[in-house]
Formats: sequence, structure tokens, C-alpha cells
Amino acid sequence: MSPDLSSESAVKDLDRWIRGEFREINTELEEIYFAERAIVLQDRADVDKLSQVLVRDGGALINRVAERRELPSDQNARYELLGMIGFYLGACRRHEVQPDQSQVAPLAQILAWSLGVAPRFSSAHQHIHNRAVGGTFNSFTSLADERIFLTYNGLAVMAYRRAAHALLDVPVLGLSNPLVTYHLADAVAALRDVMGYSQALANELDVERFFYNIRPYFKSYRVGSREFRGANAGDFAGINVIDVLLGLCSPHDPFYQEVIADKYPYVAPEDQKLLRALPTFKPLLTTAVAELEAGVPSPPLRENAQLLLDLCRHYGAATVFHHHRLVVPFLQKPAADAPPERDSDMTASGPPLKEVVETLARLRDLRAARQRPDLVTARAALDRVGELLDDSGGPALLEQP
Ligand code: HEM
Repeated sequence: MSPDLSSESAVKDLDRWIRGEFREINTELEEIYFAERAIVLQDRADVDKLSQVLVRDGGALINRVAERRELPSDQNARYELLGMIGFYLGACRRHEVQPDQSQVAPLAQILAWSLGVAPRFSSAHQHIHNRAVGGTFNSFTSLADERIFLTYNGLAVMAYRRAAHALLDVPVLGLSNPLVTYHLADAVAALRDVMGYSQALANELDVERFFYNIRPYFKSYRVGSREFRGANAGDFAGINVIDVLLGLCSPHDPFYQEVIADKYPYVAPEDQKLLRALPTFKPLLTTAVAELEAGVPSPPLRENAQLLLDLCRHYGAATVFHHHRLVVPFLQKPAADAPPERDSDMTASGPPLKEVVETLARLRDLRAARQRPDLVTARAALDRVGELLDDSGGPALLEQP
């Protein structure tokens, strides 16, 4: 029988390898590094042998796809293929070995071009676009901690997306609509889930395993001659939909504009549409103040305004948790003990960790509407809604603990 030379079969072979030998080699290498508590080990025969097999076999399989000069017509299939190439390049970067990019980079570039995204894997390839086969989704290793990380991370992303979708239905119905109560209560429940999954992640993920064996796959890497920043769990649009629809962050704020511009090429194509829609959203907190000030509020308006306050409280709590129970213990503290020459290696995005943490702290304070002398937050609007509710007879709905 003659060999199957179609582009489809070349992609299938690559997919099989990524789900099989690729994961096995990475796992073996991680166990070697972990035994030495090293981020990477060089000049060791066992490590060199494994990483060379990874570079060689992955490169050959990707080259076979590139040589066909034919892209899948389906957008999801193209995005998935970009993810496979990205996993390969991300692993090469993680093990600090140089792949031959002469065919790999142009293929990543043309896929990215057809999709309008950066030519690297993003966290969307790990949650919203991670197709399971036989009950197993794609991962770099088969380590239990990577599974814990990807599962809770993915679930937290799903929960944020659910909250965002519930909120997107509110403006068209109007804040005083009794039907809106359903959407706002759904968004509050989804944010409780975000907190639950984040707590499970903080409790179950091992700090050392994350630091030595998982985080290094999220670094920035080069595609052709350009370096592309690393993947991070925030690369989805739902979180920004919540920010702007609630009125906690503004698309007119130059700081926030930079956050969105940085993230735009790294979110999945369908999420880019949502990011483009952000400037058209009217903040729900502004609507709540205007409608409560207009006269004696109807019971549904009072109930919905109270739910809006609950929503902001849960949202703030989740962002504060991310900072203090995930970023600090899983990244900032272990990084403080790492060799100084590896400092710029410590974050997904590339800039020094201090800068990344400052940006995150600013986002956290906007999302939690904290009082900060150097920052305009939504604190005044939240307090005003609270006052107007008090004036109109107290909270309409008591929050259950
Ligand atoms: C061990 C767990 C985690 C650690 C160490 C961590 C760390 C970080 C770091 C350092 C950043 C800044 C990215 C950079 O520029 O390098 C970031 C961003 C972000 N992370 Fe996490 N993260 C974790 C889990 C999660 C989870 C479970 C979620 C929930 C979906 C999440 C949501 C976000 C968001 C939304 C951003 C982007 C900033 C923004 O636009 O809000 N992270 N994270």
C-alpha cells in the first residue's frame, strides 16, 4: 500500500506524537530536573539525548505538514494545529534547545495570519480549544500537578466566561427588568465557582512542582526572528467583558488600553470579537446610579442593583485571591530564591517579575474598586449605589454566606 501523503494524515501524525512521545519525553525530563531541584540541566548525557529526540522528531513531523503547503479549511482545525506547533516550540524553549525553524516558523506564521492571532500557543489552546481524545486532553507532561493546574485553571476560565455571558444579556433587557435578576444571580453563582476552583488550585497544586515543572513551559519564545510573550491564564476575553460591563475598568483608560492591546493577539479569534466590542459597553454601575437617582426604585431595580453590588464584591474577592494566594506563593516567593540571572525568565510575559506584579496589582485594585490615591476606581459609584439602596429602604436581597 502506498503511504498516505495528504496534509490531513501529516497533521494526524503530529497530533498523535504530541499526545504520546512528546508528553512522555517531557515527563521524563521533568522528573530528572525535579530530582535535582533544577529549572533546567545542561551537559548531561541523559538530558541531551531526550531533548535531542524531542527536537528531531517534532521538527520532522512539523516539516511534513509544512511541505504539503495546504492549511485545514476549518478555523478550529487551524487553531489546533497552531497550538501543536506552539507546544513543540514552547517545549524546546523550556528545555533550552534550538529547533530548526526554517519550515516550522513559516507554517506557524501562515496559520497565525489566517487566524489573526500571534504565531504561538496561548492558554486558549489549553482550555477552550483543548480537544480530548479518549478522555485525555493535551498537556506538556503527564504529571499529576500539570493536570491539577490545567483542570482548575480551565474551570476558573469557564466560570468567568459564564459570568461574562450572563452579563452580556443584561443591557438589552434593562436593569429594572425582573428577567435580569436571573442573569445577575447566574453571574454571582459563576463568580462563586471561580473562587471555589481557585481555592482548590491553591490547596492542591504543589508549589515546587509548579515552579520547576509547569511554569517553565509558559515562557516567551521566538518564532522566526521575533520573540512572542508567554501564555497566561488571563488570555481570554470574558474577564475584560466583566471589567468593562460592570464599570470597574474603562476602555478609555490608557493603562487599560495597553492591557487589552497586549492581550489581543493572544486570545482565540472568537474572543477577539468580544475585545473589539468593549468600547461600546455602557457600565452597569453608571446605569444603576442613574436609574436609582431618577425616583423611587421598583422592587426589581432594587433587587438587581443589590445583585450588582454582590457581583462586584465576589469579583473583587476573586482577583485579590489570585494575587495573594496564587501569584505570590506560586511565583513571587519561589522566584525570590531563584538565581538572579534567571529573573527575566520568571514571568510569562517577559518583563521583570516586579513590573508584572505591579501591573497585576493595579488591575487587582481596579477590579476590587479599592481606594488608592494614585488611581480612579469605581469605589465612589459602588458607594453611591449602596447609599441609594439604603435611602430606598435597605438591601432588597440579603446575600447568603
Ligand atoms: C498557580 C496559579 C497561577 C499563577 C501563578 C498565576 C500568575 C499570573 C501572573 C504572573 C500573571 C501575569 C501574567 C504575565 O504577564 O506574566 C497572571 C495573569 C492573569 N491570570 Fe493568573 N495565575 C494563576 C492562576 C490563574 C487562574 C486560575 C486564573 C483564573 C482564570 C487566572 C487569571 C489570570 C488573569 C485574568 C490574568 C491576566 C491579567 C488580567 O488581564 O487580568 N490566573 N497570572
